[in-house]
Amino acid sequence: MKNHLLIRDVVVVNHDGRTQADVLAKDGVIEKVEAGIHSPGAHEVDGGGRFLIPGCVDTHVHFRDPGALHKENWSTGPAAAVSAGVTSVVDMPNTTPTTTDLESLLKKRGRARSLSVANFGLFLGAAKNNLETLKQLSAAENVAGIKIYMGSTTGSLLMDDDGVMEALFRETRVMISVHAEDEKRISQRADEFQSRGEDSPHIHGQIRDPEAAVIAVGKIAAFAERYNHPAHICHLSTLAELALLASRPAAPVTIEACPHHLFLNDTALDRLGNFGKVNPPLRSPADQKGLWQALLDGRVRSVATDHAPHTREEKQRGYWKCPSGMPGVDTSLPLMLDRVRSGELTLERVVELMSWNPSQTFRIQGKGRIAPGYHADMALLSTESARPWTVDDLLTQVKWSPFTGWVLPPKPEAVWVMGVETARRGVIVAPDHRPGELQFQKDSF
Ligand code: DOR
Ligand code: ZN
Repeated sequence: MKNHLLIRDVVVVNHDGRTQADVLAKDGVIEKVEAGIHSPGAHEVDGGGRFLIPGCVDTHVHFRDPGALHKENWSTGPAAAVSAGVTSVVDMPNTTPTTTDLESLLKKRGRARSLSVANFGLFLGAAKNNLETLKQLSAAENVAGIKIYMGSTTGSLLMDDDGVMEALFRETRVMISVHAEDEKRISQRADEFQSRGEDSPHIHGQIRDPEAAVIAVGKIAAFAERYNHPAHICHLSTLAELALLASRPAAPVTIEACPHHLFLNDTALDRLGNFGKVNPPLRSPADQKGLWQALLDGRVRSVATDHAPHTREEKQRGYWKCPSGMPGVDTSLPLMLDRVRSGELTLERVVELMSWNPSQTFRIQGKGRIAPGYHADMALLSTESARPWTVDDLLTQVKWSPFTGWVLPPKPEAVWVMGVETARRGVIVAPDHRPGELQFQKDSF
């Protein structure tokens, strides 16, 4: 038996409820969730009555491999994720080279297979000239879906051709994830601000303003509705986008929110400077409040990090030379657990937002639930109290976070990936574990 695991005495929390039980897993698959399991020969772990939740499934990370391995790579990124309870990651295509054809997909897959301690999945990227390739690859290959960048950001991927975008909705059958900011408006406004010589982190939210997001979200909602093709709006950040989507209830659109938009707003830029520069930008306190409201009432479907590491040196540059993005996989679950601690969220809802819903949205097989037949990706939560985080808590290679200094719960006591204990108290204990690729179900819409 490759692995035979019995976790005793835990409170198993799924999105739809909790139960006190033992959990038995064999060869990476959960076999039983019951009280008083006997299974001779199992490796037994005492859960000590702690909470056991399904590992988080983060459907939006940038692990920079290939192309910028000094920022993150398929060793460091997954290690950071798993150490914090994120057992599955889905990587974006804006690497160098971009993931836009078969060769780049196979190469990235090979790297991830040979290095990642997390389950991984990959997006294909939409470029102006790869429509036929995307149609073919999205049907033939195991991918999370297609990512469209409507506004330029890190890397070269940009889709500002509405005809090609419409064809993707009409002619493909995989999830389309969208970075919804309108390039035309952004570049016009950037020119205006630059010609006035302005150089401050505070202009970012005026250049990439809510209207830029609304224009893009409006187009996507219309395509999604016209072709009845699901679309996933990445990192939604404004009240205006929420209002627009409320006016199009028939559009099959799911909403993702990021921790940095939930836990920070533009007033944090005084403290963070360009370390707070991210696309879409940190928004007003009113937008932040609206996003929480949408999360609490169910309009936000999932929480993903948009983990986008850049070096300290790069983030210390002036506004125009500083790249956008911040790391997130070390801190996403601890931040959300802090809202459980304060009573604003239930642990069930955190599991729904970070495990169950992302697995359902992207049709990922075997993930998001602790139950017989599901994969043994699980995090045993720590009972230690919250304390100020330091860079020593981070495994991301860039070694900074906007959340150091915050008083947060610690990383999980233990994290299993496909039945293998891979992290303990924030340290990777099975660095050679290679759980492999997520499986995305096809043609189900
Ligand atoms: O701020 C961002 N950084 N937003 C993105 O969409 C991309 C990301 C990156 O890759 O750096
Ligand atoms: Zn992103």
